[in-house]
Amino acid sequence: VLPAVLTMVISYLLGSINSSIIFTKLFSHEDIREMGSGNAGTTNVLRSVGKRAAACTFAFDFIKGVLAVFIGRLLFQYFAAAYPLAGVSSWEFVQYGAYLAGIFCVLGHDFPVFFGFRGGKGVLTSWSIILLIDWRSFVVVIVVFIVVVLLTRIVSAGSISAGIAFPICTFVFNYLVDYRMFQIGSPTYCVLTMIVALFLGGLLVGKHHANIARLRAGTEKKLSVKKH
Ligand code: G3P
Repeated sequence: VLPAVLTMVISYLLGSINSSIIFTKLFSHEDIREMGSGNAGTTNVLRSVGKRAAACTFAFDFIKGVLAVFIGRLLFQYFAAAYPLAGVSSWEFVQYGAYLAGIFCVLGHDFPVFFGFRGGKGVLTSWSIILLIDWRSFVVVIVVFIVVVLLTRIVSAGSISAGIAFPICTFVFNYLVDYRMFQIGSPTYCVLTMIVALFLGGLLVGKHHANIARLRAGTEKKLSVKKH
C-alpha cells in the first residue's frame, strides 16, 4: 500500500504543475485559461502566446510524465525487492507502478490542485506515459495523431483519434501479441492494462467534449501560431 500511496501523491502533485499556465504567465502575464480555446495546453499556448512558450510547455509536460513514471517504477522496484508478492513477477509489479504514476500524473495535469482544479486535456502527458509503458503503442498513437493533423490541420481531431487508438493498441500489443503469442504477462496484467488504457483514452476523449461539439458543428479552429 505504501508504494502505491507515495506514487499516487507524488505523481498527482507533479502532474498538477501545469506548465502552460506557468509559461503563459511568464511570457505574457495572462491566464491561458482565459485565452483562445481556454485550454491549459500546448496547442492553445501556440495559438495564443507563441512558439517559445509553446516549446517550453511541450517539453515540460512531456518530461513530467516521464519523471512520474520513473518515480513510480523506482518506488515499486524498491518494494518489490523488499517485499516480493507471491504470484506477481517483479517486472509486472514495476509496470503497475508505472501505470499508477501515469494515471495520477494525468489527473494532476487535468485537475491541478495548484490551479483551482482547472487544467488541460492531458494529451502530451499521456503520450510520455505511453512511451515509457509500451513504445509500440506510442509509435502507433503518434503516427495516428500526425496523419490526422496533417489531413485535417486540426489538433483536437488528432488528439481524439490518438486517444481512441491507445486502448486498441493496448489490446493488440499487450493481449494479442505479448500474452497470447508470447505468454508475457498474466490475465490480471492484461485486464489491468486494458483498464488503464481505457481510462486514459476515455479521459482524453472526454476532456475534448467541447472540441467534439465544435468539430461536429464545423467550427473547430485549425492549427495556428501566434506571431509577435
Ligand atoms: O492538446 C489539446 C488539443 O487536443 C486541443 O487543444 O486548445 O484546440 O482545445 P485546443
